[in-house]
Amino acid sequence: MTSIASSGPKRVTTKVIAGMKDSKTPLACLTAYDFLTARLLDQAGVDLLLVGDSLGMVFQGHETTIPVTLDEMIYHAKAVVRGVTRAMIIVDMPFMSYQANDEEGFRNAGRVMKETGAGGVKFEGGERVAHLVEMTVRAGIPVMGHLGLTPQSIHQYGGYTPRGTTPDEAKQMLRDAKTLEDAGAFAVVLEKVPASLAAKITKSIRIPTIGIGAGAGCDGQILVVSDMLGLYEDFQPRFVRRYAQLADEIRGGVGRYVDDVRKRAFPGKKESY
Ligand code: KIV
Repeated sequence: MTSIASSGPKRVTTKVIAGMKDSKTPLACLTAYDFLTARLLDQAGVDLLLVGDSLGMVFQGHETTIPVTLDEMIYHAKAVVRGVTRAMIIVDMPFMSYQANDEEGFRNAGRVMKETGAGGVKFEGGERVAHLVEMTVRAGIPVMGHLGLTPQSIHQYGGYTPRGTTPDEAKQMLRDAKTLEDAGAFAVVLEKVPASLAAKITKSIRIPTIGIGAGAGCDGQILVVSDMLGLYEDFQPRFVRRYAQLADEIRGGVGRYVDDVRKRAFPGKKESY
């Protein structure tokens, strides 16, 4: 367990997160989709848990995050909230829960807060969502931004290549990050962005940047939990480091169980009444 988790504040709030940028303490963030995993991640000292719409891929088995619904996000967020005592919990607003108009996005963000008990929401986009971010923050809902590779726009871009690689794209991303800060976002995810650009953005804004494939110059890091624990094997992006091989563990353990059942070696006397 990390020293921050054991000796630090009881609940991670936006204020705590801002303080971590000020004190140059890197933020350790992960995604979570269910009660049991969320509880383990919280016990291990993760600062922020994102109920990411990546659950569409790694939990539901879709090819993209596009099919995920608001009701599904709320269902998963409720389970995560029940497992957590310390980490801040942020819920991704899924595709088409906020793109049609700001009023709808605002009301849907309110629904997430009222129904789940989470600590805030995340919208993908920069200048495009600035007014929505402003309205949402003004209503007392913490908002996290998301720039760079934004999976809800995957069909517009046509692939998962890094973003911000041309001077124009880089300039726009810097503008987007400043706009999100001005609109009141408390942090911004930078996904698949050149490390030099992510470091420049990190220095240019007062709110923390949380990188995923954006280098070590960000204020914090986030990974999809199923990737970093070696559960999701369909592909491994270069930015993923595997800290466990749970898919191998599960296949091995379940294989032994199947063998034991076939051999009538399970249950034994001690496991029977
Ligand atoms: O949905 C998600 O898991 C995310 C992270 C990759 C940041 O948005």
